[in-house]
Amino acid sequence: MTADTQPVLELRDIHKYFGDLEVLKGVSIAARAGEVIALIGSSGSGKSTLLRCANLLETAQQGDIIFKGDPIEWKQKRGQRVPASEEQVRGIRTHLSMVFQQFNLWSHMSVLQNVIEAPITVLGEERGAAEAKGRALLEKVGIGDKCEVYPSQLSGGQQQRAAIARALAMEPDAMLFDEPTSALDPELEQEVIKVIKDLAAEGRTMIIVTHDMSLARDVAGHVVFLHKGLIEEEGVPSEVFGNPKSDRLRQFLLSTSVAV
Ligand SMILES: Nc1ncnc2c1ncn2[C@@H]1O[C@H](COP(=O)(O)OP(=O)(O)O)[C@@H](O)[C@H]1O
Ligand SMILES: [Mg+2]
Repeated sequence: MTADTQPVLELRDIHKYFGDLEVLKGVSIAARAGEVIALIGSSGSGKSTLLRCANLLETAQQGDIIFKGDPIEWKQKRGQRVPASEEQVRGIRTHLSMVFQQFNLWSHMSVLQNVIEAPITVLGEERGAAEAKGRALLEKVGIGDKCEVYPSQLSGGQQQRAAIARALAMEPDAMLFDEPTSALDPELEQEVIKVIKDLAAEGRTMIIVTHDMSLARDVAGHVVFLHKGLIEEEGVPSEVFGNPKSDRLRQFLLSTSVAV
């Protein structure tokens, strides 16, 4: 495999159990540089769990996670598999930014402080440089005038854009989005969708869990439909949305009122 085709992030045969419940039953996906993957599926199909396994917020009991060619190493601890290397865990959390449905901004910090905190404490950036970059990123997502305010003073759409600026400030190799527009009113969804589309056009590597089929169709090069912990169907958006093969996918698309 050449460096060009080596995925930024690869998940191979991921199995995840919560107690006896097997939530992921052998899921494999690979995101190459500049690729945008949309992950769709009913509530409870395992989408969030897959993203959380990818950045080691959850530990998959079986399967491989390979980040920039480097497989996560595991060890056994009290009969459970856990990551063997703290350094690898820190590395993946630093370089794989996650954007959550509920924004998860720090409420006691201004928007700019939210954006510069990790670059200063984790990446060791100098404060002045981090602030300049933070302001530029907030400008880029359209809230350059909100640097000094607190998250509670922002609309949901503005908060989510601040969260995206915070993710970008880490200069991530790939970004994971978990339903980034689900908590927003429809008119505020659009401003966040625009930012995500801009990131896709810039060639960012992203995996986006979304209930918004038009977003999936517009930004993703590859769509993965997860059903009960397994990939039921995947492919290019025109095929997945225009010519679904599986009955379950067809049912799912009807339920989300996408014309097929
Ligand atoms: N921490 C947890 N403990 C127990 N069960 C969980 C936990 N997190 C998720 N689950 C279960 O795993 C399944 C998949 O959940 P999730 O990944 O959140 O699905 P999705 O994001 O597709 O809606 C669901 O049945 C959910 O109840
Ligand atoms: Mg979810």
